[in-house]
Amino acid sequence: MAFIRIVEVGPRDGLQNESRAIALDTKVELIDRLAATGLKSIEAGAFVSPKWVPQMAGSGEVLTRIRKAPGVAYPVLVPNEKGLEAALAAGAQEIAVFGAASESFSRRNINCSIAESLDRFRPVAEQALAAGLKVRGYVSCVLGCPYEGEIDAGKVAEVAAALVSMGCYEVSLGDTIGVGTPARAKRMAQRVAQDVSADRLALHFHDTYGQAVANILACLETGVAVIDTSVAGLGGCPYAKGASGNVATEDVLYLLNGLGLETGVDLDKVARIGGWISDQLERPNGSKVGRALLAKAVA
Ligand code: HMG
Ligand code: MG
Repeated sequence: MAFIRIVEVGPRDGLQNESRAIALDTKVELIDRLAATGLKSIEAGAFVSPKWVPQMAGSGEVLTRIRKAPGVAYPVLVPNEKGLEAALAAGAQEIAVFGAASESFSRRNINCSIAESLDRFRPVAEQALAAGLKVRGYVSCVLGCPYEGEIDAGKVAEVAAALVSMGCYEVSLGDTIGVGTPARAKRMAQRVAQDVSADRLALHFHDTYGQAVANILACLETGVAVIDTSVAGLGGCPYAKGASGNVATEDVLYLLNGLGLETGVDLDKVARIGGWISDQLERPNGSKVGRALLAKAVA
């Protein structure tokens, strides 16, 4: 049976966009509970400027306090050398650098051009690799930009290839504002796979227009086998107004289970965590599958 790896990004991409303060204990409990579901990769925080993204300010403490389950990776976002220094001090074993295929988004998100961002990431990746860390890469706005509209898939491929050439073991393709539709998403993935082999790509689709599950299904046909998801569909992006959360982990697991694809992740356990974190944050559960399973459990 084919295996699909799920990268849970709720504790980072999900929580970074919450406006209310979230207790450190809640963040730690969320990550520790997720680590008991079979997930093998859980993005645990971001070492970014607290002025830019206040919600990620405690990431060092989160990383030190989580249980660190054997066999589970806890990647963290790092935008520059200052972030790397802090991530290393907190014991990070894996980092992710995050670029974009849109110049305007790059400037709004990390305050530099695409070329400058790649120049900034190169020494970060080099130092992280030398310290024995794994480095993941992101490309944002692969199917559209909140400031520029449509984005050329050739540009996505160029940035993805640059990230691989500096040592990223995998590049995650972000539909940051969730505007993609299946045929375009598949064409984009096929175009990127001409320059970066599909087994080094991941899909990171937000679900603003409700197309993420369909887009994932279309892109699975290109051979991509890693999917970023967020429990209860938590999240958004502080520099992409109106963007909703990542596709819900529960929704993707339900899709993959139905296709007979193995993930090693227990859907019922994830659904219970989705209900719990939604209650904690006093927000509606963003996963249709999660809501259905939880309703069935109490019926
Ligand atoms: P800048 O203002 O150009 O940075 O921001 P700077 O180097 O000029 O420094 C300004 C201040 O920030 C200084 O402090 C630095 O010390 C501090 P001050 O002297 O003013 O007190 N600083 C830092 N503090 C903590 N950690 C650091 C750090 N670096 C500088 N690493 C910078 C540039 C990159 C720092 C800023 O723009 C930033 O932090 N941006 C992060 C934005 C972000 O986190 N966005 C969300 C994540 S991306 C995303 O969600 C998309 C994704 O999910 C994929 C998808 O969906 O497409 C990944
Ligand atoms: Mg995202």
